[in-house]
Amino acid sequence: MKFPTPSETTNPASIEENRLHLEHLVSAEALTPAEMNAGSDAVSGLTQNPKSLPPKYFYDDRGSNLFELICQLPEYYLTRTETAILQGCAQAIAHLTGPCEIVELGSGSSTKTRILLDAYSKLGYPLHYLPIDISPTILESSACQLLADYPSLQIHGLVSTYELALAKISPSPLPTRMICFLGSTLGNLNAQECDLFFSQIVAALQPGEYFLLGIDLDKSREILEPAYDDSQGVTAAFNLNMLRHLNRRYEGNFDLAQFEHWAFYNQDQCQIEMHLKSKKAQTVQLKSLNLTVEFAAGETIRSEISRKFNLDTVEKELSQRGLKPVQVWTDPNQWFGLMLCQMSDVTSILAAPSGDVDG
Ligand code: TRP
Repeated sequence: MKFPTPSETTNPASIEENRLHLEHLVSAEALTPAEMNAGSDAVSGLTQNPKSLPPKYFYDDRGSNLFELICQLPEYYLTRTETAILQGCAQAIAHLTGPCEIVELGSGSSTKTRILLDAYSKLGYPLHYLPIDISPTILESSACQLLADYPSLQIHGLVSTYELALAKISPSPLPTRMICFLGSTLGNLNAQECDLFFSQIVAALQPGEYFLLGIDLDKSREILEPAYDDSQGVTAAFNLNMLRHLNRRYEGNFDLAQFEHWAFYNQDQCQIEMHLKSKKAQTVQLKSLNLTVEFAAGETIRSEISRKFNLDTVEKELSQRGLKPVQVWTDPNQWFGLMLCQMSDVTSILAAPSGDVDG
């Protein structure tokens, strides 16, 4: 475990070191896909039929910057809708939970966190924030900015995958804790991954603790598809950047001009699918992976899914796991939902070996 000092540029002298504690659950050396598995996930995705690639290849520096731009696009309603809902309900959330450690999965720039911190701060509650992100750079810089803006804030950041962090987080320093999973990132997990994720959340929460979930709701194709295929081509550039990233990382020769961004709403599956479509029959090589890939004209690589949800279904699924919905907030169009759930005591009883329960 390492406890790095924040870098000179992001650590104003005024910040007391003892308010920031950064912990690396994933070692810095193992953070890049190449070092984690030497591209075996790219090889298996590109040799399968149909082809796919793991979304993590979106997020090199350029990809992360493009993603920030996506969040500001007029067609991309998700970020501003969730932010508006949060602005309206943050005070109610703070009242409901009382003094509470805020844990955030995939904290990124921590922009939405400020709305929650303001609400807890208004009630005079102590501010404890536990951001979890795979990128040490973004975690460190947003933590330092938050410390500068919230003089009483304590931050314990984890550079980690969600899975590892959820398995390892220590008990809350405050009477309760709220794990936040915003931005409808849930939708980027398939049904099986989602199932596993919920069980990890349940295992990480003590009875009485909270889970705040941001979910994008099912709606018409006319609104959904432009959100993932904007008129300025930012989402297209973001998707194609995955190939540029692979070229750099694995000595590849993808010709970006010979692939195109394709996003559509798969209504049966209730999911947006993002693909990279080969404009012609072509062969691509990734030298350092020793991989040659053949593409037929029109063949695609699936790069992302973004599932769209129904509030009742999600509520039901969470309740069955002992996460009982406390309150749900939506926007006037019902485009997006924020759901606050509380871990019930019953689950811990049900989770016990059956011999201990029956009787
Ligand atoms: N979870 C968000 C969504 O599904 C953000 C996101 C993840 C995204 N991957 C993306 C947005 C790819 C656009 C393209 O919308």
